Amino acid sequence: MSFIFHSKVNMLGGKMRALLVLLVCSKVLAIATNDAYPSGYGDDRACGGTGDKLVPLRMEVYGNGRIFDITHRITPETCGGSEVGQIISLSLSMKNGSDYNFSIMKLPVHAGTHVDAPGHVFERYFDAGFDVDTLDLDVLNGPALLVDVPRDKNITAEVMKSLNIPRGVRRVLFRTLNTDRQLMWKKEFDTSYVGFMKDGAQWLVENTDIKLVGIDYLSVAAYADLIPAHLVFLEGREVILVEGLKLDDIQPGIYTVHCLPLRLLGAEGSPIRCILIK
Ligand SMILES: *[C@@H]1O[C@H](CO)[C@@H](O)[C@H](O)[C@H]1NC(C)=O
Ligand SMILES: *[C@@H]1O[C@H](CO)[C@@H](O)[C@H](O)[C@H]1NC(C)=O
Ligand SMILES: *[C@@H]1O[C@H](CO)[C@@H](O)[C@H](O)[C@H]1NC(C)=O
Repeated sequence: MSFIFHSKVNMLGGKMRALLVLLVCSKVLAIATNDAYPSGYGDDRACGGTGDKLVPLRMEVYGNGRIFDITHRITPETCGGSEVGQIISLSLSMKNGSDYNFSIMKLPVHAGTHVDAPGHVFERYFDAGFDVDTLDLDVLNGPALLVDVPRDKNITAEVMKSLNIPRGVRRVLFRTLNTDRQLMWKKEFDTSYVGFMKDGAQWLVENTDIKLVGIDYLSVAAYADLIPAHLVFLEGREVILVEGLKLDDIQPGIYTVHCLPLRLLGAEGSPIRCILIK
């Protein structure tokens, strides 16, 4: 089976690329000055402003607690985003005499809340064009289960088994210790995050109907099994991985999830906007 040979090569190349991203990420972030995530995040949801002062409304929950935004805001501190320097820059500005403001965006496709396409870890899928434009919107939108996983382990086959997720459930968002530790809100990349071990991924693929796997840090795979677990999930090209979700302050249970990636032709990942509706 030539696949074994190819996948070995891919594993090496992929792991090195992933490591590179992570290294660059932590290096750039280490230079940044603020200790925490920008303090405005989450504190500014109220207030319509008074008098002539224009204050934009930024919300995490809409419709009287019915709609939860489970996407992290993209800021210059977004892990994996800061490596390109400024993410949003004005190329035409009214201050400089233009009739309008016009910004350019420069953003790594795996920064913040994002989706992985099969081409992320399989060279042959990348070459064949399995990019984010080919992801099934039916998998990315529909009934979803938000579950809490045991806080003392990574997601192994044992843990997956213990969750007792019924057959027929197609979309699951896994909330882990990562949320308790607020890892997504920290600027440094932390390799001790919780994720799937290879056997956990294998168990999910073989024993459940789950096609949408969401998790609360930048990788569904634990760092120790970074590439092997990604390979298991993406090999069948049926499972879609959404990473870096904001699952704070939401009750476990059944929701409707809506996740929409950008239609980036040729991209093996994309920033994604995800919401949960009660
Ligand atoms: C405005 O123009 C100056 C001079 O060309 C340039 O240095 C500056 O970056 C511009 N600022 C913006 C926001 O476009
Ligand atoms: C346009 O951008 C400038 C920065 O160059 C900003 O000060 C100004 O408020 C913006 N104007 C509008 C209409 O958004
Ligand atoms: C999960 O695995 C990572 C290595 O990928 C390890 O650093 C971490 O301690 C593990 N977490 C738990 C809760 O076992």
